[in-house]
Amino acid sequence: MIITVTLNPAIDKTAVLSKDIKVGDINRIHDIVYDAGGKGINVSRTILSLGGSSIATGFIGGYFGMMLERELVDAGIPVAFVHIDAETRTNTKIISPDGSITEFNEPGPVISEFEKNRLKEKLVDMADENSIVVLSGSVPQGVEPTIYRDLIYALHEKKARVFSDIEGEPFRYAMEAVPDLLKPNKKELLSFFGKESADEDEIVEMGKYFIDKGVKTVVISCGKDGAYFITKEKTYKCPALDIQVASTVGAGDSMMAVFAYFCERGYDFKDSIKASMAVANACVTTEGTRPAPREKVEELIDKIVIEEI
Ligand SMILES: Nc1ncnc2c1ncn2[C@@H]1O[C@H](COP(=O)(O)OP(=O)(O)OP(=O)(O)O)[C@@H](O)[C@H]1O
Ligand SMILES: [Mg+2]
Repeated sequence: MIITVTLNPAIDKTAVLSKDIKVGDINRIHDIVYDAGGKGINVSRTILSLGGSSIATGFIGGYFGMMLERELVDAGIPVAFVHIDAETRTNTKIISPDGSITEFNEPGPVISEFEKNRLKEKLVDMADENSIVVLSGSVPQGVEPTIYRDLIYALHEKKARVFSDIEGEPFRYAMEAVPDLLKPNKKELLSFFGKESADEDEIVEMGKYFIDKGVKTVVISCGKDGAYFITKEKTYKCPALDIQVASTVGAGDSMMAVFAYFCERGYDFKDSIKASMAVANACVTTEGTRPAPREKVEELIDKIVIEEI
């Protein structure tokens, strides 16, 4: 069983204007789309597109929380969210006729002590030695940066495997509990080590730091420069394909989804690498965070080249 955790989900509201935005005036919206957003939710959607299944959990509240939950259920994703008193946030993107995007992101709800404990209890109840729990994304208000660390300790007690895609202070704390798989992008990796830039040798060396701490698999994604895949035994590098980019948002989440899905089925490491690259490259060709159709992934998979370094 794969469980994805999104602590700070959002309704992503995309409004398309037919005329340029006028500040201080009435602007008429030509088209509007609502999507359930959040990094764990992106992972769940990609797993579904691969033909797999995962349970989405995290905090949701109020009318927008209900809307988000309904969208996932309608899509065929089982949910086990903790219902909170405050309202789930809405992030609004305004698209002007020239294609420029103006964003308004809400801070999100404040989570109470009781709600935090409910989530931990729920996760611990659901998890067992066959579970893969994916922890991704930012921490909402009212929640300490130690939350992921504490969840990892509790999940490891239940013998579940934990995959994490976390940045900043929560990432630093999470490392104390040693997740089983890490997926930082290059920027998140550099920020962990307080560096501005790194060449290939340095990137691999930073990845190996986590392996030495006990992490089993480290996936470092570097956008258009591809990705590195590191275990205790092997290090592989994969260049990204030269493809038509529509949106790179969520490409890293789609890699995480493949690793969780392949790991659950006991698939080979090299196969997971190849599939994760094909899925991520295909994801980049779609608008927003939407997973690519299977045919696109199948078209790209034979073009992926893996090099051992
Ligand atoms: N411009 C691009 N061209 C081709 N492939 C890309 C591009 N950007 C990303 N990718 C593919 O997607 C993978 C993940 O991308 P990236 O490093 O941007 O992840 P990320 O920053 O974690 O994304 P997110 O957090 O939004 O999900 C890359 O390793 C690469 O295979
Ligand atoms: Mg990412």
